[in-house]
Amino acid sequence: MAFPRISSYKNVDQFRERLSELSLDLPVDDEVQSGDDAVLAQPLVSKAGLIGNRFCILPMEGWDGTADGKPTDLTRRRWQNFGLSGAKLIWGGEAVAVRHDGRANPNQLLINDTNLKDIESLRTLLVATHAEHFSKTDDLCVGLQLTHSGRYAKPNDKHTAEPRIAYRHSVLDQRLGIDSDDKLLTDDDLKQLIDDFVAACVLAQKASFAWVDVKHCHGYLGHELLSGFDRDGEFGGSLENRTRFLRNIVAGIRSEAPGLEIGVRVSVFDFVPFEPGDNEERTGIPSATAPYQHAFGGDGSGLGIDLSEPSKFVDLLEELDIDLLCTTCGSPYYNPHIQRPAIFPPSDGYQPPEDPLVGVHRQIAATAELKAKHPSMIVAGTGYSYLQEWLPNVGQAVVKNSMADSVGLGRMVLSYPELPADVLAGKVMARKKICRTFSDCTTAPRNGIVSGCYPLDPFYKAMPEREQLLAIKADM
Ligand SMILES: Cc1cc2nc3c(=O)[nH]c(=O)nc-3n(C[C@H](O)[C@H](O)[C@H](O)COP(=O)(O)O)c2cc1C
Ligand code: SF4
Repeated sequence: MAFPRISSYKNVDQFRERLSELSLDLPVDDEVQSGDDAVLAQPLVSKAGLIGNRFCILPMEGWDGTADGKPTDLTRRRWQNFGLSGAKLIWGGEAVAVRHDGRANPNQLLINDTNLKDIESLRTLLVATHAEHFSKTDDLCVGLQLTHSGRYAKPNDKHTAEPRIAYRHSVLDQRLGIDSDDKLLTDDDLKQLIDDFVAACVLAQKASFAWVDVKHCHGYLGHELLSGFDRDGEFGGSLENRTRFLRNIVAGIRSEAPGLEIGVRVSVFDFVPFEPGDNEERTGIPSATAPYQHAFGGDGSGLGIDLSEPSKFVDLLEELDIDLLCTTCGSPYYNPHIQRPAIFPPSDGYQPPEDPLVGVHRQIAATAELKAKHPSMIVAGTGYSYLQEWLPNVGQAVVKNSMADSVGLGRMVLSYPELPADVLAGKVMARKKICRTFSDCTTAPRNGIVSGCYPLDPFYKAMPEREQLLAIKADM
């Protein structure tokens, strides 16, 4: 199924026409404002500090740390780009593992005493770069995303999964070769991990981060626990039990790292895993049929949304005195078309079964529903990169209509780091830098290569890894 490219819409009316063909109620402003009075230039005040505008850099790891979990020059370049973007909310930088067995790949950053100065230097570099380009940094709000990769842990070898799971899953266990309960984390394992998480948060505070994101998204452990409906014991079953992991980490932070603020990035809905269909295009099809009981924020069909539990989850954040929420959905491993809408799938994926605009709208609409129910939360949304030329027009309209507070940028910031600054300065967008969702930044790490924007970023274009990636894609 081929879908029209975004670049084929020559003006805002043509773009709107496509939205209406798809029956998508997505707000789009005709003109994007610039200057101090612009909608996207308005500040926000969080418990974590002042946030000088409405752009947020989403966490983006690069599979480019050292074997012992320190940043490399490639990592530093990415954080520098985050700083020069002009965005004032830095949602976590990238996923940093709280301990070795929780690393999603052998090159993921790892926070511990030995690596502390190196992790701190990323924040220092980001802030210094921001200071060079913009007048002030007291309105730059920088957090660190902390994680345990759970089912998707690969700490020692790029090609060897070492999963630690919250519950047995009929489809995902098969994909990872799990055929016994050996990989299940016991309640005692989780209690130990909570202590390790808190210890990592203490270190993040020492490294001068204003806040930490206790990651609950994308199929990693925090997220998987939220859907442990049929897990026994203290961490499964009721919503209270399924959120015990978060609640105990938050209690530990309040006691061990007072003053460190907290945000949560959460997959607010999930679908059934997908797989390539057997048509010539390998269009994605669901890997399981209804009823599907493993989707947090799902309606039980595997393909629908029910935000009643996610809304209770946000109630809980409010009770816990947390005001930073970043919404995302699904998982890049088992349903990437909902998580990061793209016209070209990653190499191990399937062709999108829907116009990627449908996926963008799904995330924006779910975020708006949660924001409406929780107006005092500061909500950063996700899924905007596929909008390409129309990202600023939609982002501005979303913020203006209080459907989210901040426009999160993922892939777009890899190809076009200066986008927020350009938009706020009223510059014409640099078309050659606009992310076209080629998915090379996902295909590369799936094949053991560092991530980056190989098609558009001249720095990555010139790397020898680009040839390697092209060869892999040619073989597909
Ligand atoms: C190369 C790459 C690395 C990513 N790393 C992380 C990560 O470390 N933590 C996280 O929460 N999300 C991560 N994501 C997901 C993005 O933050 C974002 O949710 C996704 O790309 C969709 O937003 P977009 O449409 O703006 O790209 C990553 C995505 C990509 C493409
Ligand atoms: S490789 Fe570049 S153009 Fe492709 S999806 Fe990633 S950021 Fe976008």
